[in-house]
Amino acid sequence: MKDIIFVIFGSTGDLTSRKLLPAISKLYSDSQISKNIEVVAVGRRDYDTAAYLDYVVDTDNNKLNKDILSKFVTYYKMQITDQNDYQGLKTYINTISGPLTKQLYYLAIAPQLFDDVAKYLSQVDLVEKNNSHHRLIFEKPFGHDLDSAKKINQMLWKYFDEEQIYRIDHYLGKEMIQNILMVRFANRIFEEVWHNRTIKNVKIMAKETDGILGRAGYYDDSGALKDMIQSHLLQILSLVAMDAPVSYFSDDVKNEKIEVFKNLKFDKQSLIFGQYNGYKDEKGIDEKSMTETFVFLKTFVNTPRFKGVPFYLLTGKKLDVKESVIIVEFEETTEQRKWNLPLSTNKLYIKIAPQDGFGLSLNSKVPGLRDDVENVEMEYCIACQAYGNMTEAYEKLLLDISEGHKTLFTRWDEIELTWKFIDDIKKLQKEPVIYDDYETLEKLIFDLEGEKMS
Ligand SMILES: NC(=O)c1ccc[n+]([C@@H]2O[C@H](COP(=O)([O-])OP(=O)(O)OC[C@H]3O[C@@H](n4cnc5c(N)ncnc54)[C@H](OP(=O)(O)O)[C@@H]3O)[C@@H](O)[C@H]2O)c1
Repeated sequence: MKDIIFVIFGSTGDLTSRKLLPAISKLYSDSQISKNIEVVAVGRRDYDTAAYLDYVVDTDNNKLNKDILSKFVTYYKMQITDQNDYQGLKTYINTISGPLTKQLYYLAIAPQLFDDVAKYLSQVDLVEKNNSHHRLIFEKPFGHDLDSAKKINQMLWKYFDEEQIYRIDHYLGKEMIQNILMVRFANRIFEEVWHNRTIKNVKIMAKETDGILGRAGYYDDSGALKDMIQSHLLQILSLVAMDAPVSYFSDDVKNEKIEVFKNLKFDKQSLIFGQYNGYKDEKGIDEKSMTETFVFLKTFVNTPRFKGVPFYLLTGKKLDVKESVIIVEFEETTEQRKWNLPLSTNKLYIKIAPQDGFGLSLNSKVPGLRDDVENVEMEYCIACQAYGNMTEAYEKLLLDISEGHKTLFTRWDEIELTWKFIDDIKKLQKEPVIYDDYETLEKLIFDLEGEKMS
């Protein structure tokens, strides 16, 4: 009997070959996960296991190793939209599972197919509602607005209890996102000053240099607001702004994040939607498309801790650098004002990508005979310190799913409140500004907010 069975629906897709199989292979090779694992790769293509492995090894850029994969992957051919095919899948899974086997069903497929798969898995009793060993995993997009998210969720709750559902926002598996609570609550110097009396503003930015990279179908329906803000950036914001939880168990952490979402407001005047020049010429994009590839907004978290502090959110494509970063800017000191010197404010940089780490900028005397000041930065770069390869987000997420740890997965009420927030912004959507470069957008923000986004 296997300890863990990962059943992947959509095993011939990009997500499986680029993220899931590399992560499972790494966990397996590093003995981080039981060696008594089987990945059942479900697909409609006419492959056997050997042909399937040739296919994924061929399509993958991450140098998947066929010898390692062949130790735990079995290809299972079926039509996932045909109820009759599930009896056969059940028979197969029953031959390799026992009552203690963790059965992890990964929906690496479009959300329109979730209904069929969840229903049929349940109808043949392959998954039992409330059996915590039977888990369902899927990725964003969690719907495209509050109504559609509710529909997906209500459908899934017919067959799975919330405890069995793992919604993946892969940003939450990134090293520095996991580190936010540690930096905040395990360091007295930050814990003491993490509030509106000392923090001036917070900037949360996810910039990309690429365009849509052929994902016209998905992206044109979504846009930057839904693709990035609803999920990744609001999740980050909640971790930066939440109060200390009663404990670090999943539900206690989420209860505090929920308080942030309940108190989240945005400034209507601050909204900037942009579209990169040439977006409408991309293959598959309508020449009249109004979809934004850039969005900026100022938000406020009206809790006693953060009332009055602007949280600026910025994300977009075809910008100056590829970078995801949180910048926490502190107020000036009272003494600082007495010095007639060009003094800067302190900033804590939590660097998420491409290099994980953090930096802290300080004012310091320029060494020498004069009382000049300079801004210096203390740096910690994880990749520079870590031995061996850095852990990929999916390794952490898949390990946590197999061990039943839910902190890094989004609970339904988080999805509900973030969609409500996004729906309210959507109602005010304006025609996007066409931009050629980031400087144009930065100037717009500066003119509007008097803030430099760096
Ligand atoms: N790729 C990523 O990095 C990523 C990141 C975040 C979220 N997601 C989400 O994850 C899901 C999968 O993404 P993906 O990029 O892997 O998509 P993809 O490359 O288009 O793959 C889709 C998979 O679904 C299968 N499929 C499609 N229609 C089917 C049908 N009617 N019956 C049976 N199988 C069908 C495809 O099988 P065939 O090969 O036989 O067509 C393929 O295995 C999507 O919801 C996506 O939004 C993906």
